[in-house]
Amino acid sequence: MLRDKSYVLVIHGPNLNLLGKREPKIYGTLTLNEINARMMEKAEKLGIELTFLQSNHEGVIVDAIQQADLRYACIIINAAAFTHYSIAIRDALAAIAVPAIEVHLSNIHKRESFRQNSVISDVVQGQIIGFGADSYILALEGAARIGRSVN
Ligand code: DQA
Repeated sequence: MLRDKSYVLVIHGPNLNLLGKREPKIYGTLTLNEINARMMEKAEKLGIELTFLQSNHEGVIVDAIQQADLRYACIIINAAAFTHYSIAIRDALAAIAVPAIEVHLSNIHKRESFRQNSVISDVVQGQIIGFGADSYILALEGAARIGRSVN
């Protein structure tokens, strides 16, 4: 399908609504709204149209992934704690044709052992982790490349 813009769904998982005040030494001081605003600025330059979802609920995220199929060029997902154990989110990502980019603010491999495993890492196109809020901006660069190849 030929489109003037590339449509990208950004999914923020549990507790990311608390960014800014949540463990700022690990996650930084930007709020989620500020991160989304930075993403929108970058997306505009890349010709990407963003839709944002933040949810603390696994099923809501599974529903959003299922509904994204055939509608988006790419999904950017920070599944937060679900990254480490949600087979339901993994299965949803594996079930759809839309490629996903896994994002984390922190470098999960440098942290507690239970965070070092991602159950979604092998069903996504790639991971961008450890760059704080810039992880999302870098993911947009990746999404733009994917968008150009599918649209
Ligand atoms: C996180 C890392 C996860 O381990 C954690 O549960 C989060 C945020 C990150 O962006 O660094 O909520 O996904």
